[in-house]
Amino acid sequence: MIYEKLDKFRDDFLWGSASAAYQVEGAWDKDGKGESVWDVYTKLPGTTFKNTNGDVAVDHYNRYKEDVALMAEMGLKAYRFSIAWTRIYPDGKSEVNEEGLKFYENLIDELIANDIKPVITLYHWDLPKHLQDLYGGWESREIIHDFNKYCVTLFKRFGDKVKHWVSLNEQNIFMTLGYVTAMHPPAVKDQKRMLQANHIANLANATVIESFKTYVPGGMIGPSFAFGPVYPFSCNPKDVLSAENAEDLNCNWWLDVYCKGKYPAFAFKYYERLGIAPVIEEGDLELLERVKPDFIGINYYQTSTVAFNPLDGVGQSEGINNTGKKGTAKESGLPGVFKNAKNPHLETTNWDWAIDPTGLRVGLRRLTSKYNLPILITENGLGEFDKLEENDVVDDAHRIDYLSAHVKACKEAVSDGVDLLGYCTWSFTDLLSWLNGYQKRYGFVYIDRDENDQKDLRRIKKNSFYWYKNVISSNGEEL
Ligand code: NOJ
Repeated sequence: MIYEKLDKFRDDFLWGSASAAYQVEGAWDKDGKGESVWDVYTKLPGTTFKNTNGDVAVDHYNRYKEDVALMAEMGLKAYRFSIAWTRIYPDGKSEVNEEGLKFYENLIDELIANDIKPVITLYHWDLPKHLQDLYGGWESREIIHDFNKYCVTLFKRFGDKVKHWVSLNEQNIFMTLGYVTAMHPPAVKDQKRMLQANHIANLANATVIESFKTYVPGGMIGPSFAFGPVYPFSCNPKDVLSAENAEDLNCNWWLDVYCKGKYPAFAFKYYERLGIAPVIEEGDLELLERVKPDFIGINYYQTSTVAFNPLDGVGQSEGINNTGKKGTAKESGLPGVFKNAKNPHLETTNWDWAIDPTGLRVGLRRLTSKYNLPILITENGLGEFDKLEENDVVDDAHRIDYLSAHVKACKEAVSDGVDLLGYCTWSFTDLLSWLNGYQKRYGFVYIDRDENDQKDLRRIKKNSFYWYKNVISSNGEEL
């Protein structure tokens, strides 16, 4: 539908930008911080591009004031960042580390003093190593207690100042890459273990959301989900059915649990037949049904397209998760899965991610009609090989085009009736890409470093910096 005039964004729209502790902070062992699984994993030979790790990253830990000053210059309304669990509880569970709390308190105060709303992510993948060694991290129900203890410490300390919180960042990704494709720690290939650990993460998520209601009344909390709608390759009903399957396995498997407190029927039965469905204990479903998030956070980068798999029912079926990585459901002998297809209508980035602003509008509407909750876009952005040119110019016109089309899609979705709380780009400064070093950049602010050479970590404003500044000051009227 094309409107003559689009609705305006709400007055308190959160024009934001996002980051994650491991990707920006550095100072990996400073002021009492404990080791996380990422501190260890990235140091194993061959796990990351040119063996990069987050020991220094972009040194935000030491330069946060300079970074916040740039945010203020831009007029940013919200900054989404994650707290490193190991700065607060170095071993994940025992003694609280005041120096870690102090760092985040200073950051929060600096943001508030500059009229920037902090949006805190409680978990962005940097699990305390000790908990992984002690009981297998997300595979043990003990983590529910420890994660809740850590979160309650933060709710008590920062709940009066910070009103927007994100519980788990991209549970679908850290579970799939951690336990299916083995590209993230703990680098296991075992889908049964993944589904069980994932169920425990669901319980942990619901537990902390419930605690939040007690400690931060009036605040808002929700998970951040890596979301992209699934399209059928054609209107052949078999392709349409395959897209339903993929949507159930890749999206509803998480979102239905967060928002309705139950697993989608098809996906659960599918895993049951494979003998890998999670074991659900007494009380689990009551907890999941009782607790609802205040909003759905989505990290939107692309859509996926799937087709009927002729091998369905006779052998191996191929699927794709929404990171774009392939996965297989082997020898299930089960009908009704899907195979990945290339969408002929979409261009792709240099990293082969489909560029699809309309897909964002489709997705926002789909989520609204399914779950009827406000939505916060917790990430959206373009990863590219940016170049620092003479006179400190970074001409990232491609990023401006990408972001502008996506903000326009948000505006259309708002005009369609979606309750959109805000839009956070990924990312404010360039930062460490978990596996890809610094070749893939997302920021409005260029950081002068590469994998081999930290240089001086100078901050340089890209052209997109000035573009977003104008978007914010016009409340999204000027794109
Ligand atoms: C999702 C993750 O939350 C973030 O950490 C990552 O760097 C970006 N997407 C880009 O892939």
